[in-house]
Amino acid sequence: MNPVNGGLCKGVEPVEIREAVEGRRSIREYTDDAVSGEMLDELINAAHWAPSGLNNQPWRFMKIKGGGELSEKLSNMTKYRGVVYGAKALVAVFLDTGEMYDRTRDLMSAGAAIQNILLSAYDMNLGTCWLGEILNQREEVESLLKAPEGCELVALIAIGYPRERERAGVRHPLDTFIIPPPE
Ligand SMILES: Cc1cc2nc3c(=O)[nH]c(=O)nc-3n(C[C@H](O)[C@H](O)[C@H](O)COP(=O)(O)O)c2cc1C
Repeated sequence: MNPVNGGLCKGVEPVEIREAVEGRRSIREYTDDAVSGEMLDELINAAHWAPSGLNNQPWRFMKIKGGGELSEKLSNMTKYRGVVYGAKALVAVFLDTGEMYDRTRDLMSAGAAIQNILLSAYDMNLGTCWLGEILNQREEVESLLKAPEGCELVALIAIGYPRERERAGVRHPLDTFIIPPPE
């Protein structure tokens, strides 16, 4: 953090965010090293600083220990079983529908919170994988996790120290994504 102004002035210190944005990869295999509760708290702290429409902060998070009974039951609810069971910790991300003001915008806010977790984890040398396939069994997962009334699962994030070697990301050429403005 910039000590002069509490981090508010951008561009004064080297910005490493670009390295994280481009260098982060989905990590699906983890070492045996534990992920501490403090680290999970730090990730969730990063998540709750995400922007949200009307600043309604509709996200909710559940920390789940890796390798335990709950994680094993979760792993049996997705075809990414190995990723879930191999993770040293999991964070289930929910949308609190009681706090919602607009479904699309609220889901985008939850996505921003998730990305904050992925990038902050990368900064802490942790690997993560955003898991969406498990939403095919959303109701069963919510029931297993005893999700509070009105909390809808939007993602599960697998976390651990990367066992995989570094690999290059794959993206279409940048031009693919550019839509020209009207003449
Ligand atoms: C909404 C969403 C859902 C995803 N679901 C899964 C999933 O269920 N299983 C998985 O292994 N990866 C999942 N991913 C990770 C993507 O496969 C990954 O981000 C993409 O292939 C690009 O690779 P990279 O993250 O390494 O850059 C998901 C990513 C997003 C954003």
